[in-house]
Amino acid sequence: MYGVINKSLRDMVIEQFGEAKWSEVLQRSGVPDDSFLAMQSYDDDITYKLAQACADEMQIDLGDALRAFGVHWVENTVAKQYETLMRAAGSDMLGFLGNLNNLHDRISSTFLDYRPPAFEIQDGDGDDVKILYLSERVGLTPFVEGLLRGLADRFNQQMEIIEIAPQKVAKGEQTLFTVRMA
Ligand code: HEM
Repeated sequence: MYGVINKSLRDMVIEQFGEAKWSEVLQRSGVPDDSFLAMQSYDDDITYKLAQACADEMQIDLGDALRAFGVHWVENTVAKQYETLMRAAGSDMLGFLGNLNNLHDRISSTFLDYRPPAFEIQDGDGDDVKILYLSERVGLTPFVEGLLRGLADRFNQQMEIIEIAPQKVAKGEQTLFTVRMA
């Protein structure tokens, strides 16, 4: 994944636990160095190894580490570095989610050959909304959970995740989130 993602993970650890902890994480991951360039694409394996090393170092599940990272990505990284793009994509949670594929599309001229996810928003019962997450990758559903929580905070939207249903796919990952918005 692009370096901006790996840098964000590093920033999260440093902000929350300090430089020394990050050195431990890096060493544990086996990733040789952390001089990531934001606009360069790196092997996905690097991101996965760093996330797993974070979880191991903090003695938490990988899922919990990815959820925390999702929140951090929305509340820190994109809020600081991509606020203009974020604002242009919507001022409420549902409107924003409906524009997210466009947002990822628009930056495909900057992030060449990148492989962003896709989201489909469907009506659910009553206040429920169904959000289908489609990725070429496997294992990032907890990251999306954190992203949704971060977005709910950003838009002051009461939101409860009612169900997270993995779907069978031949390649990559698809997950149907049912969320209740008050
Ligand atoms: C302006 C803000 C954003 C920028 C610049 C951005 C950019 C990126 C980039 C560069 C990647 C890496 C893909 C690759 O290297 O192949 C990525 C992945 C991803 N983005 Fe965004 N993104 C933004 C906002 C969001 C938001 C708000 C969400 C919330 C749902 C989101 C969901 C994801 C997910 C889930 C991935 C992981 C890739 C996968 O699932 O396969 N992004 N994004």
